[in-house]
Amino acid sequence: MSRGTTAIIDFNNLRHNFNVLTDLSPHKLVLVVKADAYGHGLKQIVSALDNVDCFAVATIDEALLVRSVKPNVRILLLEGYLDEKELNTAFDNNFDSVIHQQQQMKLLLTSQSSKKMNIWLKFDSGMNRLGFTEPEFLKALNILENNKNTNEIILMSHLASANQKNNSFTHKQAQKFLKYNNGHQLSLSNSSALLNGDHLKQEWCRVGLALFGVSPVENTTADEYDLMPVMTMKTNVIAIKEVKAGESIGYGQTYKAESDMQVAIIGIGYGDGFPWSLSKSAHVMLNNNKAKIVGRVSMDMLAIDISEIKGISIGDSVLIWGQECNSKLLIETVAKNAFTIPYVLLCQITSRVKYQYVN
Ligand SMILES: Cc1ncc(COP(=O)(O)O)c(C=O)c1O
Repeated sequence: MSRGTTAIIDFNNLRHNFNVLTDLSPHKLVLVVKADAYGHGLKQIVSALDNVDCFAVATIDEALLVRSVKPNVRILLLEGYLDEKELNTAFDNNFDSVIHQQQQMKLLLTSQSSKKMNIWLKFDSGMNRLGFTEPEFLKALNILENNKNTNEIILMSHLASANQKNNSFTHKQAQKFLKYNNGHQLSLSNSSALLNGDHLKQEWCRVGLALFGVSPVENTTADEYDLMPVMTMKTNVIAIKEVKAGESIGYGQTYKAESDMQVAIIGIGYGDGFPWSLSKSAHVMLNNNKAKIVGRVSMDMLAIDISEIKGISIGDSVLIWGQECNSKLLIETVAKNAFTIPYVLLCQITSRVKYQYVN
């Protein structure tokens, strides 16, 4: 038996989610695949999807990776080019770019290139992260409308609290942004806004987490939106132990057995990206049963209580999150138990976890 800690990526579910989001979306979709496609494998995810209007990434290296598998697809740099070299790489590879600050305007206006680029001009409608505020935004727009290197202009902004339903700040941001609805294409919504119906009538929605079958909307799960988890994380039982009443389990002796119990040691720990904070009040699935985590999560393994689960052997498969046969454990639930968000769980999977691509 080898250490079986594996992330299984299901392309059928990915394509299903893409179709669901395409049907929901009022216009074209931007698929956000930064951070290694939210931990799913950038090259593999991009290769598996056809008829995509645009992929979006955070860095120039991510954009080049997407270009290496899709020579003709539209690719958007969400943070834009950071210096002249990146600007030229963007021109050479036909990337779209966000422009969110003066320094990027200057680089474009002094560029010697004869090529044109689609520019996503970013307005800061309240996030206070990237984007121009009011007077500068209009000035930049005016300049871009007469700029030799600018092809299409898309006006964009980003929502701060769309993950909460009926959030008044989301509506304020949309109102502020819509003041600039002057005939240019628009892009405001992320997954949450699209799923909540807070998107604009005609816009490029930029969806990330929902594509991977995970709900970003507070207190909801993906199945409520007919989305299916793309990743299933699994491991195996690597040892079985009898623990006597009064004995402790693991580092810091944080767990004391109240009665004689049987525990299984499973091959996943914080060295794989499994959160240490799940040392309390969390569970995994074993043979269709919930098995409670007991004691602290170690770097490479953790202990689960199998006293009530009969017939467990070394090598048995353990579901960490996702879906396996009839067993299901939503990553939204795991994140809640770990006092974190699914985005973090997906992005912190470490390189020693094996990936298996199916369907
Ligand atoms: C600018 C921008 N747009 C869209 C997204 C996609 O967000 P989500 O994964 O919540 O759909 C992100 C993700 O962080 C982003 O930074």
